[in-house]
Formats: sequence, structure tokens, C-alpha cells
Amino acid sequence: MLRRVLESAVRAPSVYNSQPWRWRADSIAGIDLFADRDRHLITIDPDGRDLRLSCGAALQHLVVALAGLGWSAQVDRFPDPENSGHLARVEPVHESPAADVARLAPAIPLRRTDRRRFSSDPVDRDMLDALVAQARDWGAEMHLVAGAAARTRLIETITRSASLQRQQAGYSAELARWTGRYAAAGDGIESTTVAAGIDLPGDVPMRRFTRGALPQSTHSLTHVDASTLMVLSARSDDRLGSLRAGEAAGAVLLAATGLGLATTPLSQPLEVRRTRDWVSEHIVGPQVFPQLLIRVGWADPHSPPLPPARRRAIDHVLQPPATGT
Ligand SMILES: Cc1cc2nc3c(=O)[nH]c(=O)nc-3n(C[C@H](O)[C@H](O)[C@H](O)COP(=O)(O)O)c2cc1C
Repeated sequence: MLRRVLESAVRAPSVYNSQPWRWRADSIAGIDLFADRDRHLITIDPDGRDLRLSCGAALQHLVVALAGLGWSAQVDRFPDPENSGHLARVEPVHESPAADVARLAPAIPLRRTDRRRFSSDPVDRDMLDALVAQARDWGAEMHLVAGAAARTRLIETITRSASLQRQQAGYSAELARWTGRYAAAGDGIESTTVAAGIDLPGDVPMRRFTRGALPQSTHSLTHVDASTLMVLSARSDDRLGSLRAGEAAGAVLLAATGLGLATTPLSQPLEVRRTRDWVSEHIVGPQVFPQLLIRVGWADPHSPPLPPARRRAIDHVLQPPATGT
């Protein structure tokens, strides 16, 4: 069972597909999740927020995978006060899981980051509200960017963050490292998952990873992309807040996938201080702390299904059980 649930946990999204996690599975103490600091993207993510969001999503996928197999989970976050890299300990409990958690399990192998243009069909408000509720249930808050004017201003902000980030020392080198990985490494951004770059007015700009090799359907270039932008925020501006926001991100993305929607997590505008401050002030307001943008919409009906992005083998992310436990 352990391998099976870990196979599902590592299907979680992660910044640059860096998979910044290590796991330790011990039959007595449960399953431990650690941050893999060798995979920390120090240029774009000096505070480790993206890293904890990614690990939080993996933690959430683990809990959902257990639920899919009929188990509940007891989650202890930051269980070791002397080790901030020990993000969580998960104890499987042989009790029926909550139905709404188990219901997310079938979406794990189906979810993808879709960077292509979406269809011109807007997403129903009921569905968007259900995603906002998911974020809340998993310990975060989510704001819809409603209205054309707000969307346009956020798009301008994303564009500004991209330009500021390109000027940042080390940005291009770090990006090149994670886009130029060998297939056998099982990580990084493959050009086959990056849409061939055709930005039309009104499109949400994607991060410029590398030359895109994922064709866009020509049909999708003839209409407006009606995707909705949402801002996921933490309830506290600390390590726990971003880990829990990662869990909420995992839940929102799986719930959207379950509804048949396409999604793109976008962190770029929140990695640049100036543009993050703008999002804070103009979109989410005080008392919450923006962590991740999520673009949601209907995939263009003429677009082919996306292949899964690669992952490292479980043996590469699993460390031996601790001795003496
Ligand atoms: C915290 C976080 C930040 C991300 N930021 C971006 C981003 O700015 N642009 C983007 O295209 N994808 C972004 N992604 C998506 C990842 O690149 C994607 O999850 C990874 O490549 C694996 O692909 P998959 O989601 O299809 O499994 C982000 C994901 C996470 C969890």
C-alpha cells in the first residue's frame, strides 16, 4: 500500500517540476515528508514558499490516495521543532475517510498543468464557487478575479513580473537548469509540456520556459480564451501558511480535474516582491497572503489530451526508515 500511495503523492504539481520532497515510510511511525533542500530554487524562491506549496500539494495527494484506498489520515505538520525541513508526519488510520476527500482520488492520475489556450466557454459560477469552497476546506482562501478590468490589470501585472524576473541575476541560469534536464532525470520542464508560444491579446501570459513543442490547435487561435484567474492565499504569512496553501492548491486542482476542467498553477507574479504586493493590495486585501495563481477553464475541444509530465522513481525519493523507531 505504501508504494501505491507514494506513487500518487509524487503526481502532485511542483514548481519547475522540481519535486522538492523526500519521503520516509516507517510502518510504526507512519509516513514522513521532508523538504529536499538540494531542489530548492533559490533564485526565484528565496523564502521557500514555492517549495512548501509543492510539498503541501504532495502531502494533500498522499492523504487523498490513502482515502481512495479506504484509510483516514492523521496529519502532524512540522512535527519536529528542531527540523524545519520535516514538513509533516502522516499516520494512516484504519477508519473510513471523509467521502469528499476520497472522491478526489480518481483525479490524481488525470490532472495535468495545461499551458495552452483554453476554450471560449466560461466556467460556471457554481463550479468556481465549489473550488473556492475546496480551498477553504483545506485551510486556505481563494479569490476569483472577477470582471474584465481586474483580469486585464492582473495580466499586466503578470507581464511586468516576467520582465522584472528576467533581469534578476541567476534567473536565466536556474531556468536553463530545470528546462534542460535529461529525460532519465525524471524531473524538470519538458518542451513537450510547453505550448508553442502564440500569445494573443487578452491571453494570460505563461512563464517563458523554453521553446514550446506542444502544438496549439489552430481552432483555439480564432477565439477568446475564457479562462478564469483565481488567487490562492494563506491564512498566515509563515511556513505553516504556505504548506497548508499547498494542500489547498492540490485540492483545488484535483477538484477542478474531477469537474473536467483544465488548470494552470502560476507563481511568477508572486515571486517578485513588487507584483506580489500589488496582488495583495488590489486583489486579496489584508489578513491573507497570496501564494499561487490558478488559471481554470475548459480545454479547447480540438486540443489533444496532454501526456503526463515525468516524475522521478519512488526509490529516488524514499529514504530508509529511521533506526530506533
Ligand atoms: C508552487 C507551484 C508553482 C508553479 N508555477 C508555475 C508557473 O509559474 N508557470 C507554469 O507554467 N507552471 C507552474 N507550475 C506547474 C508546474 O510547472 C507543474 O506542476 C510541473 O511541471 C509538473 O507538471 P504537471 O503539473 O502536469 O504534473 C507550478 C506548480 C507549483 C506547485
